[in-house]
Amino acid sequence: MRLHPSFPRPSAAMADKARSLLERALGPSKVLTSPEACLAYAGDESDQEPVAPDAVVLASSAEDIAKAMRAASEAEVPIVPRAGGSGKSGGCVPVAGGVVIATLGMNGILEISREEQVAVVQPGVILADLHAAVEAEGMFFPPDPNSLKMCAIGGNIAENAAGPRAFKYGSTRDYVLGLEVVLIDGTRLRTGKRTVKGVTGYDVTSLLVGSEGTLAVTTEATLRLIPNPGAVMTLMALFPDVYASGRAVSAMIAAGVRPRCIELLDEGTLDAVRARGVAVDARARAMLILEVDGAPADCEAQAERLGEVCAVDAIDILVAQDAAQRDRLWEARRQLSPATRAMARYKLSEDVVVPRDRIPALLEETRAIEAETGIRMITYGHAGDGNLHVNLLWNDAAMAPLVERSLHRLFRAVVSMRGTLTGEHGVGTSKADFLGLEQQPELIELQKQIKRVFDPKGLLNPHKIFPRRQLEAAPS
Ligand code: MLT
Ligand code: ZN
Repeated sequence: MRLHPSFPRPSAAMADKARSLLERALGPSKVLTSPEACLAYAGDESDQEPVAPDAVVLASSAEDIAKAMRAASEAEVPIVPRAGGSGKSGGCVPVAGGVVIATLGMNGILEISREEQVAVVQPGVILADLHAAVEAEGMFFPPDPNSLKMCAIGGNIAENAAGPRAFKYGSTRDYVLGLEVVLIDGTRLRTGKRTVKGVTGYDVTSLLVGSEGTLAVTTEATLRLIPNPGAVMTLMALFPDVYASGRAVSAMIAAGVRPRCIELLDEGTLDAVRARGVAVDARARAMLILEVDGAPADCEAQAERLGEVCAVDAIDILVAQDAAQRDRLWEARRQLSPATRAMARYKLSEDVVVPRDRIPALLEETRAIEAETGIRMITYGHAGDGNLHVNLLWNDAAMAPLVERSLHRLFRAVVSMRGTLTGEHGVGTSKADFLGLEQQPELIELQKQIKRVFDPKGLLNPHKIFPRRQLEAAPS
């Protein structure tokens, strides 16, 4: 269902010119041009309608990317970097056609150093493979977006991906020490450092992380690792209603307990968890998945403290008894995105963040929106960070205006609570038109100026982040 307008594509002559410049620079084997082949690079995991590019470059080195950038710039066609293609905001969708630079083939883990606690990786490394390689060396790379078996580190860097463990350990940006990137004119640039400290010049690395592929294309990253935290203990706290689970989150924050994950699942999502073989008490209308790590005795102490805090409202608190039980629970949690998609014909997944003490207020707001518009809203997510995935579900395409109205109301409520529109999925195309709700015009203009410094002609991942139109009053 189309919720986003379409954008003008390059003319046939421009697309032809791009294809022949690319083939000349890279050789035909690295350039896909057939419509069928290009179709495989048209979409991501968001609600953004797929759009086929005019060509795809299968990059196997930084030099390939530099050549592709130069050729596409000369032809003046859009250039869209793509890693795992698992994004949730349309970030790698070539909405205006042009050339996709696919980096999944650049999947080398170039170095893991125990002495320095760093890893040097190429952008196509699948996150789960990086986790395994780092853990085999007794270290830990915390970011864990739920798509970890299919997302790649280049995309994680572009979107500043996070995941359940971000509550204790932070997001991808907190682990990127330095980058090697290619600029729009083909210049190869190193940013940042390899040392754990360093304040030389502007922090260009931090600017590039989370820039959604609009400023440069990552060809290598130097990542900070930490020691493996040791034992892990996973708990399920069951609540009679979702507001009680939200209050428990605030109580945990106030009590200063610091599990590595606090994940909230509302009633609508609990059924999906039950369907995957996790036994959940029929009285439960909400669940918190809590996970602690550290030395075994420390895990016990943290779990006990969490139990005390939750006991105020919880129906029951269960500890996963073995690795199999724990894996089943996390697998069910990680599958919530596809599971909720199967619940209705159409789904929009949001990624809002509110101050943690406003979680019950946000949940109430979703109920109120549901009552007003008839669009079903179910919620799960990283409650420890106040980051909730509110999912809008509907079956009738004619309800699209009500979806728009629901979104406006949701985003306005989030901003009025001093929250933010996206905690980990990025703005992409899906939230671009709402940017003005959260950021003042001068800040948006400043960011556009930065974009122009990197990309004067606006060719790199165009139409992402920045609004296409002034936001009007909420539709009634
Ligand atoms: C998740 O936490 O499961 C992911 O961010 C995906 C989503 O819910 O949209
Ligand atoms: Zn998430």
